[in-house]
Amino acid sequence: LGGDSLLVVSNRQPYKHSYDDDGTITVDRPAGGLTAGIDPVMQKTDGTWVAWGDGDADEEIVDEDDCVRVPPESEAYTLKRVWLTEEEVEDYYYGYSNQVLWPVCHGGMWKTKFANEFWTTYRDVNETFADAVVEQYDDDSLIWFQDYHFGLAPRMVREELPEAFLMHFWHIPWPSWDSVRSLPNHEEVLDGLLGNDLLGFHTDSYCENFLHCVDEAFETAFVDLDGKKVRYDGHTTYVESFPLSVDFDDIASKSAEADDEWWGEFRDSYGIGDGVQVAVGIDRLDYTKGIPERLDALARLWEEHPEWRGELTFFQKGSPSRSRISDYKELQEEVEEAVARINRRFGTDDWQPVIYTEEMLSETDLYGLCRHSDVALVSPLRDGMNLVAKEYVAAQHDEDGVLILSNQAGAHEEFGDDAVTINPRDIDEFVEQLQYALTMEDDERGERMRRLRDTVEEYDLFAWLEDSLTTARDVKRQRDAEA
Ligand code: G6P
Repeated sequence: LGGDSLLVVSNRQPYKHSYDDDGTITVDRPAGGLTAGIDPVMQKTDGTWVAWGDGDADEEIVDEDDCVRVPPESEAYTLKRVWLTEEEVEDYYYGYSNQVLWPVCHGGMWKTKFANEFWTTYRDVNETFADAVVEQYDDDSLIWFQDYHFGLAPRMVREELPEAFLMHFWHIPWPSWDSVRSLPNHEEVLDGLLGNDLLGFHTDSYCENFLHCVDEAFETAFVDLDGKKVRYDGHTTYVESFPLSVDFDDIASKSAEADDEWWGEFRDSYGIGDGVQVAVGIDRLDYTKGIPERLDALARLWEEHPEWRGELTFFQKGSPSRSRISDYKELQEEVEEAVARINRRFGTDDWQPVIYTEEMLSETDLYGLCRHSDVALVSPLRDGMNLVAKEYVAAQHDEDGVLILSNQAGAHEEFGDDAVTINPRDIDEFVEQLQYALTMEDDERGERMRRLRDTVEEYDLFAWLEDSLTTARDVKRQRDAEA
């Protein structure tokens, strides 16, 4: 980026050090889409990444500034770790981030649990990260915040470094003003985010919601809806959409390795009989993902269309998440119970309707499963983007699977009706669309999937990065010209 180096700030770190059972230290590779995606750019540009050091061996290997060069074998850039106490994790991460901001932004206000310590600790931790950024900053760094954990830090950094260029990508939805004004301390969060020069969301509607919120919250803000910018407190913030994507080529080549022989073995290992169609769901165990609603729709399908008994198996991979929060723990139990109930009700000696696993699956297994399954069920009640939908499409090497997609996922804005669209709360429609997908002719499958794949291939993870960084450069030029 024109010689600028990146200073990335995220809650999750790209490399984590942990002790093995025998006391040796091991490194976990980047797992999530975001950390895996930004990591190669960091390696090329030798920037600094500031993140929470949550590994039990993290402290062991940092230098006196809490920094470590990563990746371990090539030492291409600096990871600066920030330490959080147990209480800070409780109130900042489990508290304000995940029991206030997360539900409000996903339209689930009834899940919000607010306590004053959540807010004060969120502010303190944002201050800690802001201090780390200021300490790591040098004149040509471009500061890039990631996500809802850092709603306040941009303003804090702006106060210390008035000339710095600050950008932020918000990975979850931005809801309407009616929801936002229910958020305790929403003015501070809006003000914090307006410390940025450039603020990115997945979709245009999140951008519009944000601009509208600023307009409602601050009489002194000048909001330019067409120009997508806000003038507030002597500073301009540009608001733009950048739909996050996946590494299409990498997924396509990994799924290509999972050939028919692999699929035969995979089916055998889970006892999926020959000729049985397979539908797949892959999710973090989060109440926004609509997993119970999906299981209800499947149960209704087997009830109303008994021809699918013995002919369709649903494979659900669930990844436990944020389990210290009761709503998450309860969801996990609810899913496990629903699966057991369905299997008791419809299962036979040689057919299991739902296979549910929380085991870690390798990339080959995950992408192979996506490649070979007949239908994918991506049915969130609300989701900023949903990268599983894009991973499924990228893995569809043979272009013969069908994506059933909720109209509540950000991805739906790009995919439209190339996916089979559902409203996850409308069970009758869900069952109808399932039936439609399962019986779809090969020609239609191929046509839809080819269009979906073109969409993801054209705007893949690297296009997202380039789009974000090119826009940043333009905004910076504009800002410098006006100064
Ligand atoms: C969402 C958020 C990410 C977060 C991920 C996993 O995708 O946008 O910021 O990292 O969920 O959640 P966790 O709480 O485990 O980091």
